[in-house]
Amino acid sequence: MSAALSGLPSRVFIHEVAPRDGLQIEPVFVPTHDKVAWIDRLSDTGVAKIEIGSFVSPKAVPALADGEEVARRIKRQPGVRYAALIPNVRGAERAAGTGLDEVNVVISASETHNRANLRMARAESFRQLGEIARVLEGTGLVLTSSIATAFGCPFEGPQDRAKVYDQVGRLIDAGCVGVTLADTTGMANPRQVAEMVEEVTRTRPEIDRSEVQLTLHFHNTRGVGLANILAAAESGATRFDAALGGLGGCPFAPGATGNVCTEDVASMFAEMGIETGIDLERLITVSRDLPRLVGHEVPGQVAKAGRPCDLHPVPAAAA
Ligand code: COA
Ligand code: ZN
Repeated sequence: MSAALSGLPSRVFIHEVAPRDGLQIEPVFVPTHDKVAWIDRLSDTGVAKIEIGSFVSPKAVPALADGEEVARRIKRQPGVRYAALIPNVRGAERAAGTGLDEVNVVISASETHNRANLRMARAESFRQLGEIARVLEGTGLVLTSSIATAFGCPFEGPQDRAKVYDQVGRLIDAGCVGVTLADTTGMANPRQVAEMVEEVTRTRPEIDRSEVQLTLHFHNTRGVGLANILAAAESGATRFDAALGGLGGCPFAPGATGNVCTEDVASMFAEMGIETGIDLERLITVSRDLPRLVGHEVPGQVAKAGRPCDLHPVPAAAA
């Protein structure tokens, strides 16, 4: 094999976050029945994990107010992990009885975004994290956490990397078995991503040994999403959040737009010969129903263009 992009892994894992990150910013309430049917179809596409919703204040995010019911009604596919985002202890208590596999506690690197998003100081978020770990004991749910604004904050700008690394350490020490570096409003660039992935892997042996799963979460707000994924993969990351159709965005971050698009990410990796476990044709079929589900066109490209192998009939003039 050539040395080009020689650091790339042979297998990556895609986490589908559209039912949470995607719907949280939509003005429409997708009926519970439709959400459940949609998640069931996503369960059959080969994604490794699905974030099915969140247990946040229904006043903050009305679109996801039906989290418990969604969790209860989805058909669990063996081999797929099911997660929900939570902001506080109350969220953990709500998640405890649902039979889900994971909670994802969101805490921002930026003090300002934490206050805008969660209406509390980071110190309070960390305090609640300890309590959340205790609430989850014996429930079967494991603790993971996402570091929002890890690559930049729309209010504060660039974030001190030492602060982000310190947060990674605190999360692992609090018992998190998964840590996600999240680029909430698409401020990351590939060099920064590569350096930060290398640094957390080098300094936290739990990540290097895969005892703690490192996930990268990119938004395509400035068109750099796939480049960032590639940079992270080249630096050893194997887990990526993505949203079907490129839906997504934090309602409490000005200018937020969609996540990297799941089928675009899956297509890129497939074309590079990197295993994702995803049935791309099936995923695209589910994605093509999104405009009906959310009531508007979506930004993803592969569902519109088709896979590179989906060829067109030869025009008469060229035959
Ligand atoms: N689930 C459901 N309801 C919750 C809740 C939870 N996890 N946490 C708090 N609430 C309720 C309270 O019971 C209270 O209800 P009431 O008004 O009927 O009495 C109300 O929400 C306000 O509670 P309070 O503790 O004062 O919270 P707050 O108004 O300071 O808001 C959060 C704090 C964290 C609950 C809220 O900011 C939030 O849910 N943020 C999530 C934002 C989000 O999802 N962002 C996108 C993902 S990154
Ligand atoms: Zn996001």
